[in-house]
Order: sequence, then C-alpha cells, then structure tokens
Amino acid sequence: MFCLIYRSVATSSFRRQDIQQMLDKARVKNEKLGITGCLLFYEGDFIQYLEGNQIKVLELYDEIKKDERHRDIELISYAEREGREFERWDMAYEDFLGDNDQITFLKLLIGSYFEDAEDTSAPHPASMPFWQTVNKLLTAKSKPNV
Ligand SMILES: Cc1cc2nc3c(=O)[nH]c(=O)nc-3n(C[C@H](O)[C@H](O)[C@H](O)COP(=O)(O)O)c2cc1C
Repeated sequence: MFCLIYRSVATSSFRRQDIQQMLDKARVKNEKLGITGCLLFYEGDFIQYLEGNQIKVLELYDEIKKDERHRDIELISYAEREGREFERWDMAYEDFLGDNDQITFLKLLIGSYFEDAEDTSAPHPASMPFWQTVNKLLTAKSKPNV
C-alpha cells in the first residue's frame, strides 16, 4: 500500500460547510479508487493522509494540488507500507470544533506540529505513530458509549 501525506492552507473563501460538501464528493470518488485516508483541518490548515494503489494516489494528489480551494501545498512524506491504516474510512475528517477528551488530545498533537516545530518529542505527521494515534482517537470519538 502506498501512502502520501501533505499539508496545505485553505483559501479564505473555503469555509467549513464547503469542506463538508467537498468531502461528500471526495468520499464517493475515493471509494471508487480504493483510496482511504484522513483529512485534518486545524485553524485554516489542512493535513491529509492518502493511502491506496500508488498510481491512483499520485494521480489524485496531482488533482488535489491543482485545486484552488487551498494553496501552499507541501509534500510531507510518502512511503510504501504494509496494509492500510484507515481501512474503515473513505476519508476520515476532523475539524477540531468538538470538545471532548479525544479531540483535546488530538489538538495537542497537531498543535505541536503546526505551532511548535521545535518540539521533536511529539509524533510527527511524517511518521506512522502520528496517524495511528489519530486513528485511535477518531475511532474512540465515533463510539461515544465505549
Ligand atoms: C484539502 C483537500 C482535500 C481533498 N481531498 C480529496 C480526496 O480525498 N478525494 C477526492 O476525490 N478529492 C479530494 N479533493 C478534491 C479534489 O481536489 C478534486 O476537486 C476532485 O478530486 C475532483 O473530482 P472530479 O473531477 O471527479 O469532480 C480535495 C480537495 C481539497 C482542497
């Protein structure tokens, strides 16, 4: 499985409700392409993890790069790895508006990347431990009674 991680900055006209619409379309397309992953939207910045067939992921990334709803697209890392991390999701999404323990922790995790680049103790989004933690937290969040 090929995975690719990038970050970008949302253009100011791209609002939360527009992101939701974009996601609805993206999830349908990702399912067709066999692509799964996770999109985080933190204070105007995106960070996205895409995984699937290498050619399909690279083709989609090329399209995403051309999208005028975001700018300053920066590739963080890519790699070939065993299996999928976000098997259950065509595209998991979190915008950090909610307020529970999982989200608070996830905010700390992503905040240390975006706001405190010096902090090398926190897992970095180029590494799988970062996404494994994101996955665990989003899974726990989607099961409120557990
Ligand atoms: C931050 C961001 C993330 C996106 N993620 C995806 C995605 O995971 N899958 C997808 O199909 N499109 C995604 N898009 C939309 C694509 O850029 C593009 O609009 C879409 O693939 C076009 O599909 P269509 O030509 O089939 O309409 C994303 C756009 C942005 C701005």
